[in-house]
Amino acid sequence: MKILIASANPDKRAEMEQMLRGLPVELVSLADFPDAPEVQETGETFAQNAARKAVETALYSGLHAVADDSGLCVDVLDGAPGVESARYAGPRGTYRDVCKKLLRVMRYVPDGRRTARFECHIAFADPEGDVRLTARGVCEGTITRQMRGGRGFGYDPVFLYPPAGKTFAQMVPEEKNKLSHRARAIEEFRRKLEEFLHQEMA
Ligand code: IMP
Repeated sequence: MKILIASANPDKRAEMEQMLRGLPVELVSLADFPDAPEVQETGETFAQNAARKAVETALYSGLHAVADDSGLCVDVLDGAPGVESARYAGPRGTYRDVCKKLLRVMRYVPDGRRTARFECHIAFADPEGDVRLTARGVCEGTITRQMRGGRGFGYDPVFLYPPAGKTFAQMVPEEKNKLSHRARAIEEFRRKLEEFLHQEMA
């Protein structure tokens, strides 16, 4: 089965490809569809955004499509930045800007109340535009008081993963990709996709 990833990001495609290895699927990405319309992420939840991207991409291409949406949810901020994670420091804000803003907003929050989680939601739609599978992955951590580490992207330098005593930005990609919200969501998606393919081929 051919599956279109609703993203042109080569890293996302590589990660998905690696984690779906062995399944009878061929992955293509939006990089192969330069005229595809950009789907706006205007949903109120990660699940809504993932579903909308998967459905619109499937309808546009006539292929099965998979999409994800992810972000950081901080408990003391009632789940913010959440679906606004990419735009937290404005439309032109850099990764450094979003981290700096979060540290500033949280400067008076005591250590015990700095809990947060990364969430990733995945939706898989068929060519008729029906969502057939969903999956979710979560990674629990805390927000640091300073940026730490130079790897990764987004909020990685301020997200401490307590079992490792390191931020995501202090981990090599192989370490992060074993325990991240995205890895956990893709793992669940793989299990469900395997069952789905069995049923489709039966
Ligand atoms: P996307 O849905 O994967 O494009 O992620 C949206 C935004 O969430 C990104 O621009 C980042 O700010 C944040 N984000 C998602 N996943 C991660 C991660 O693994 N590390 C750091 N930031 C992330």
